[in-house]
Amino acid sequence: MAVPAQPFPGSSAPDAPQPRRRAAGRPALPPVVADVRRRKLTYLDRRALLDIGRAVRAAERSQVPGMLIEAGTALGGSAVVMAVAKRRRRPLVLYDVFGTIPPPGDGDGPDVHRRYDTIVSGQARGLGGETYYGYRGDLYEHVVATLTEYHRPPAHHAITLVRGRFEDTLSIDAPVALAHLDGDWYSSTMTCLERIVPFLSPGGRIIIDDYRAWSGCRRAVDEYFAVDRGCRREQHARVHFVRDPTETMSPYAQQAG
Ligand SMILES: C[S@@+](CC[C@H](N)C(=O)[O-])C[C@H]1O[C@@H](n2cnc3c(N)ncnc32)[C@H](O)[C@@H]1O
Repeated sequence: MAVPAQPFPGSSAPDAPQPRRRAAGRPALPPVVADVRRRKLTYLDRRALLDIGRAVRAAERSQVPGMLIEAGTALGGSAVVMAVAKRRRRPLVLYDVFGTIPPPGDGDGPDVHRRYDTIVSGQARGLGGETYYGYRGDLYEHVVATLTEYHRPPAHHAITLVRGRFEDTLSIDAPVALAHLDGDWYSSTMTCLERIVPFLSPGGRIIIDDYRAWSGCRRAVDEYFAVDRGCRREQHARVHFVRDPTETMSPYAQQAG
């Protein structure tokens, strides 16, 4: 796929990273990761973003069937990395309210409730002191524009943005190759696990961003995987769960249906 060898839009500094081309014609991931971080488009650190990008590339190399999902997109930084790492025709679906994060619940601990209180009281600060993304009214349009700036206009790269609460919008009925879960709270995480894991392809992977960050996310993961789901746990920059690649089909999808 042709990607113009020019600085990413917004990268006006003379030393702005150039997207180095790989032999296969797809851009190298480290400059993209550096750029989304420099532009304050993500809450993830460099290792976590590279982890996601490399996992997407590995799924492409191994031809793991199914779509890519991100649940929790915010300003779009990690979504850009996934979009750049994937092949053009591989569907990528981005789920988010594209507004203020929904309230936590009983499954979340005091850390989460304190954070939510700060957010709803209007006191949350954005990255670099900018307006907190959850207070913006144009987040959906911002993510579409950002993907386009990185030469991944959604309409031409099989990327779909789904606005709304995961609880209302996430309805999976097709194989999933990889899902990046970054929804912070208990219900957000549990909803994604219950609805996505049964549809993971053999070799398919779930990456959980917040296992070590938020109590509710950790609790949801621990509860859900306390039962054998046919996945092995791996520790990379973040926690991964990988469906046994030798399985020819998932019995869990039948159970879920
Ligand atoms: C930490 S941010 C995502 C960060 C992003 N991946 C990045 O690269 O910085 C979490 C996002 O998940 C969204 N979210 C959390 N729970 C949700 C739910 N139940 N339904 C829809 N969106 C949710 C929030 O609104 C927020 O945009």
